[in-house]
Amino acid sequence: MTTPTDDATPIIAQKSPIPVEVEAGKTYFWCTCGRSDSQPFCDGSHKGTALAPMKYSAETDGKVFFCGCKATGTAPLCDGSHAKL
Ligand code: FES
Ligand code: FES
Repeated sequence: MTTPTDDATPIIAQKSPIPVEVEAGKTYFWCTCGRSDSQPFCDGSHKGTALAPMKYSAETDGKVFFCGCKATGTAPLCDGSHAKL
């Protein structure tokens, strides 16, 4: 019997934030599970896990830093927690 994977724990996509130029009024879906190949956004790879993407609505145009490590306390944006991983 194989050990079941823990499908409720995110994996670290990268230990640094991902800068993205967002547009006011646009909605983005941040990958919470770390499995997406289109970081920092969801590509559907969370399927089969207990995780789901988090919606982010940009209020202004500009660069934001999405969390790549999935351990941030201010999801979906980086709060510096990646430095402790
Ligand atoms: Fe990670 Fe969808 S692929 S939340
Ligand atoms: Fe996750 Fe910075 S990349 S807290």
